[in-house]
Amino acid sequence: MAFLNNPVALTITVSLIIQIIVLILLITGYMLKKKLEFRQHGIIMTTAVILHLSMVFYVMIPSLVLAVIPDFIFVAPLQIVSVIAIIHVILGASTATLGIFLVGSWHFQKSIKGCIRRKKYMLKTLSIWIATLIFGITLYSLFIGPLLTT
Ligand code: HEM
Repeated sequence: MAFLNNPVALTITVSLIIQIIVLILLITGYMLKKKLEFRQHGIIMTTAVILHLSMVFYVMIPSLVLAVIPDFIFVAPLQIVSVIAIIHVILGASTATLGIFLVGSWHFQKSIKGCIRRKKYMLKTLSIWIATLIFGITLYSLFIGPLLTT
């Protein structure tokens, strides 16, 4: 398979696997909230935010700046890849901002009173996050799909 010899394709595949781990963390965090284990919920969500941000800075921003913007968005802004990339970037920026706000304002304090006040943002954050992942996986398949057949 051509994509195994392609370092860029391998890097974004590793990033995709990490995003799937992030999704598993989000589901686990949500289940912990259901069991009323709020501190554990906060710790799992913090881990998901850190893991997600590390991929955003290490893989996604470089790939956006070096390839997606110059090769797709500038060249053919109405092409499906460009439209999905733009939606993914807008949703992803909102997820990162909300995630940093929620975990940063808690920062592992013993009290979870502040978190309860910020509960109204949490379901929205989780929903936007899942939408970000769906658009990201779609983008991945548009980039990698053609390489799998060569
Ligand atoms: C990106 C980070 C986070 C996400 C995506 C998230 C997600 C969620 C979701 C979806 C709910 C259910 C909300 C609802 O039923 O309307 C929830 C509830 C809750 N979360 Fe988070 N959460 C995050 C961070 C945190 C942090 C850092 C804490 C602090 C310990 C925390 C504490 C709580 C508490 C206490 C509740 C339940 C409040 C209640 O039912 O009265 N969460 N969270």
